[in-house]
This record gives sequence, structure tokens and C-alpha cells, in this order.
Amino acid sequence: MAELIRLSGDADFEEIAAFQRRAFGHEWLKSERRRLQCAEYYRWKYFPPRGPAWLALVRSRQQMVAMVAAVPFHLAMGQGAAWQICDIATDPQFRHRGFFAGCLAALSTAVAGDMMFCFPNKQSRAGLVRAGYGARSMLRVCARPLLPLATRKSDVAGFGTADLAECDAAFTIDPRRHRYIRRSPEFLRWRYAAHPLNRYVALRKPGDGGTDSCVVVRRMFKGRVGMVVENWSSSEEGARAAQDAGYRWAKSSGCLAFLWARDPRVPSPGNTRADLNWQLPWKIVCYTNRNPESSSPGTAGDLHVQLGDWDAI
Ligand SMILES: CC(C)(COP(=O)(O)OP(=O)(O)OC[C@H]1O[C@@H](n2cnc3c(N)ncnc32)[C@H](O)[C@@H]1OP(=O)(O)O)[C@@H](O)C(=O)NCCC(=O)NCCS
Repeated sequence: MAELIRLSGDADFEEIAAFQRRAFGHEWLKSERRRLQCAEYYRWKYFPPRGPAWLALVRSRQQMVAMVAAVPFHLAMGQGAAWQICDIATDPQFRHRGFFAGCLAALSTAVAGDMMFCFPNKQSRAGLVRAGYGARSMLRVCARPLLPLATRKSDVAGFGTADLAECDAAFTIDPRRHRYIRRSPEFLRWRYAAHPLNRYVALRKPGDGGTDSCVVVRRMFKGRVGMVVENWSSSEEGARAAQDAGYRWAKSSGCLAFLWARDPRVPSPGNTRADLNWQLPWKIVCYTNRNPESSSPGTAGDLHVQLGDWDAI
């Protein structure tokens, strides 16, 4: 029922973008997603360093009426890929006919044996659970206001802005304990430097032998908000310093708020300033397929995600 396509540069990205806008509709609260729904974004997003994405789609009288994409990433360890399931959408007039389920099943055959993960909204969670996915990790978004009048030095000892592709040494944790998406120079260049619509800055503190720290901050809402999308360090102290560097950078760049995400199960570097922090009612949940027959160590249950793994940020 669903057609499977391995994407190439010849795909009709205008059609994909127009379909996504039609399926999601327009709500002013979701303007950030609407901003991304353009051909340029899909032309970038479906070609990460690991290779082109798969698209499962359903047509009715030549018109696209449902689609789901699977975008591949290298895992830090092991041979298999991790596929991000995204752009889940069915035309409102064609819902409740099993098209989402059909697209998901088609993708599972295309990437059989590999891990699949997804940051779904509430509408698609039930369908993922029926297809054998489970909630694996949750990120809570925290915010802190920045007072524009208070001037503070922007630099934190040792941290300076860096070329993202040179930051890969910072992005390593023990891959035997956690599985995570590999932050190779190619990945970092593609994910952040080559993003067609979003702007990011990396702050890095070089260290000795694998002790670099790096924080990546996204500027959003016309530069009024700085959001940490990656914070990697070999120690908790390093992560705290990186968070602080991001905070000071945002402040000195004229941001009015600083945002970051924390996994409630993991101690967070942001906790030190708990008195001024707000936890926003915004939960970002990562689902993974339950039973990948992957040969790499660990299970899909221990996929360690940061905000930067989420295609919406
Ligand atoms: C989420 C979304 C893609 C689901 O698409 P869909 O094609 O309607 O999904 P399915 O038909 O496979 O399943 C939807 C429901 O129909 C039911 N269904 C499936 N086949 C059916 C059939 N033949 N007859 C009646 N019901 C059926 C399913 O059991 C499911 O039930 P639920 O509502 O209790 O979960 C769609 O609602 C959508 O596009 N939403 C807006 C975009 C969005 O939010 N996307 C998710 C981004 S993460």
C-alpha cells in the first residue's frame, strides 16, 4: 500500500513541503514548525552524512495523502544505523485508514534490524506504541530570564567560540554505557553549520586527552532566546562550566531568555541556579523501537539523546 522511496536530489521537495503544510495546518502557536516546512529544509534534512533518508508515502489520484520519513545516523559504536522517524503526516481527509501504520510498517522493512527513534507529538504516540515503540527518555525544558541591563563579562575561563566541525573531540562519552548519535566533524558540519534556516554557535574549551568541553547554543525568536542544544563534557564540573559559558554568551548577545533541556533522571548542570530557573510545561519524549536486532552493544532502551538530536530544534 505505501510506496517506499530512497530519496535522491531529484525528489520533488516542493511537493513534500506543500503536503506537510497541508497536513499540519496552521496554528499560530506552531509558527516555528511552519517556518521549517519549506523545500530548502527537506532538501537539507534528508541527506545527513550517513546517507539519504527513506520516505514511505501513500498517494490517491497522484496526490500525496500520507508520508513518514526515516533519516539515518551513525551510532557512536557498532555497525547499525539509528533512523529518526519524522515528518509523520496524513492529509486530514484521509485519516483513520491505517496510512500512518502502513508507512511505518514499510519503513521497518526498509531499515530492518536497525534502531529507530522518534520525538513524536501526542497525535502519533498511540500509533508508535501499536507498532512496538516505547517511551525511552524525556527531556524537560528549563528557562532562565536574562536581564538586558546587567552587564557581565561574556567570556568564561577557557571557553571561546569555535568552528563546530572542530568540536568533535568534546562529543564523546563512554559508548559502552550509552548509545548515542555520533558527533563526527561531518555530522556537526551538516547538523549545525549547514542548516538552511537555523543559526547555532559553538563554545569550546580545549582540554587534554579527551577532556574538551563544548556547548552548542541555538539563537531563536529573532535572537531573543538562546537555547542549549548540546552540552558535552567529560565531567559534571565541565558541563556546568559549559552551561555557564552558554548562559554568558546569550546574555552578552542580547538574548532575553536562556533555555536548556534536562533529563529528570540525570543530574543537570543547570540545577546550581535552581532559584531562578523555571521548568516549562514542555516535555520532549523520545520513543525507540523495542526490539531492534542490532548487533551493536546496549539496547534501544539506552539511547542517550540531547535536544540536538531532535529535528525540530
Ligand atoms: C498522526 C497522524 C499522522 C495519524 O495518521 P493516520 O493515517 O490517521 O493514522 P492511522 O490511520 O494509522 O491510525 C490512526 C487511528 O486510526 C485507526 N485506524 C487505522 N486503520 C483504521 C481503519 N481501517 N478504520 C478505522 N480506524 C482505523 C487506528 O487504530 C488509530 O486509532 P487511534 O486514533 O486510537 O490511535 C495524523 O493524525 C496527522 O497527520 N496528524 C497531524 C500531523 C501530526 O501531528 N503528525 C505527528 C507528528 S510527530
